[in-house]
Amino acid sequence: MPVSSTDIQRIFASIANRYDALNSILTLNIDRRWRKKTIELCGLRKNQKVLDLCCGTGQMIIYACKAVGKDTKVIGLDITEEMIEVGYKKLGKPLSDYKYELIQGNVLELPFEDSAFDCITIAFGLRNMPDKMKALSEMYRVLRPGGKAVCLELSKTETPVLKNIYNLYFNNILPFIGYLGTRDKKAYEYLRDSVNGFMSKTQLKAAFDSTGYKDTGFVSLTCGVAAIHYGTKPI
Ligand SMILES: C[S@@+](CC[C@H](N)C(=O)[O-])C[C@H]1O[C@@H](n2cnc3c(N)ncnc32)[C@H](O)[C@@H]1O
Repeated sequence: MPVSSTDIQRIFASIANRYDALNSILTLNIDRRWRKKTIELCGLRKNQKVLDLCCGTGQMIIYACKAVGKDTKVIGLDITEEMIEVGYKKLGKPLSDYKYELIQGNVLELPFEDSAFDCITIAFGLRNMPDKMKALSEMYRVLRPGGKAVCLELSKTETPVLKNIYNLYFNNILPFIGYLGTRDKKAYEYLRDSVNGFMSKTQLKAAFDSTGYKDTGFVSLTCGVAAIHYGTKPI
């Protein structure tokens, strides 16, 4: 059954305080490596304007701020106020010398002018969009010509032996650990279902292509359980 933006907001509001800890446990901390790699692929230079969509508690904001330096404000946007609140509490210390702002908003109706950003990142967010093509085209709209969109997302492994282990972990163990950590069974069933129902790597690349991005491609991570997709808005 399709999940509405309101349902998604409620799910993330209920787990906001434990999101970071559970994320590290459930990905065995590998997500840090994936996030660093994502920012590397952005190829950011000092003072470039970065927008991080579905910023949640700001895990990508830390890496983006360090990449663009202390003089330029990095913007994060998320629909769930509770995730943003946790983010502000967490980022205060590590980013005390950096500029950043976390805005509450919807990716499907971005509150920014056309061509406003040099780079847009979205980590573990696209999968949550009720309309993924609309999200990709909103990203395209607010990206400047020549700018890059980079998407880190969970994916399904194509490696035969790993597939069975992964399915067991993802469909049974992960929702159970998630439930123990949050007492919110629905939240982690939603996580499982949103990954199972998401596009394959080649389908997502095709979605980037059909939105109008050029030089698109993807990097498969950790035997394909996650992937980084990217594309550039033509000049
Ligand atoms: C799995 S979390 C990812 C958070 C963060 N990017 C990270 O890497 O940890 C997904 C986030 O997407 C946000 N979200 C879901 N739908 C959204 C929408 N339509 N617009 C903006 N944010 C949305 C949720 O509130 C949640 O914080």
